[in-house]
Amino acid sequence: MAEPVIRVIDLWKDYADDLTNAPALRGSSLEISAGEVVALFGKSGSGKSTLFNLIAGLDHPTKGRIEVEGQDLELLGEKGRTNLRRFRLGFVFQFFNLLPTLTAFENVFLSLELAAKPDAAVARDALKEVGLAGKEHRYPNELSGGEQQRVAIARAIVKRPSIILADEPTGNLDTATGNQILDLLTHRCRESGTTLVMATHASFTCRYADRILRMVDGIVVEETSGEVLAR
Ligand SMILES: Nc1ncnc2c1ncn2[C@@H]1O[C@H](COP(=O)(O)OP(=O)(O)OP(=O)(O)O)[C@@H](O)[C@H]1O
Ligand SMILES: [Mg+2]
Repeated sequence: MAEPVIRVIDLWKDYADDLTNAPALRGSSLEISAGEVVALFGKSGSGKSTLFNLIAGLDHPTKGRIEVEGQDLELLGEKGRTNLRRFRLGFVFQFFNLLPTLTAFENVFLSLELAAKPDAAVARDALKEVGLAGKEHRYPNELSGGEQQRVAIARAIVKRPSIILADEPTGNLDTATGNQILDLLTHRCRESGTTLVMATHASFTCRYADRILRMVDGIVVEETSGEVLAR
């Protein structure tokens, strides 16, 4: 079998200042192969964002190991982890996280600049791909929630990352718009062979995934789609 692109081994995270609660992660393990579309499904507070932050190398685990594309994140060092985020990973967040003082085009272009491949035509094409041709010069507050999330998707896909982490990608959208966004995101990732992991507490997101990982109180368990959809 091919080397997994994401491998998490017995991961623990105890937020140091948080003595009143159980650890956010309590021995999570998972493996995700190249090109898979996976839903990480779990209730609020179950540890999804914590796991994403650790996979992105934005925070350190209390214990355990994370490998991204075969590289141990701890051994990569700060610079290596920054490069991984810039060149190999794309992010889509619940609240879009667009820079409010930049236009749609500039938000996407910035992502290319950070990945050291600035190209205006490529940025424009990415916006066209997500259905925003003609709205390139709008600021985020001049776009609907769904349109803002399209910009966020364009920003993630434009650098052709090998992995996209989408944390509650439809959290702030109505169901119809949310379905459009999931359609777009999963379609685009499948077409390009990009590995996609979507953290969500919404079961409808699971319909778009090849595989569902369920997060319960800081532990990941494999679950069939039938089990989730029966809820
Ligand atoms: N920076 C932090 N400091 C202390 N505790 C934290 C921090 N971030 C998260 N936690 C705690 O860790 C646990 C897991 O939180 P996390 O944000 O990972 O959950 P989640 O599954 O993403 O939830 P949601 O669906 O609401 O986004 C919660 O108990 C939360 O209070
Ligand atoms: Mg979260």
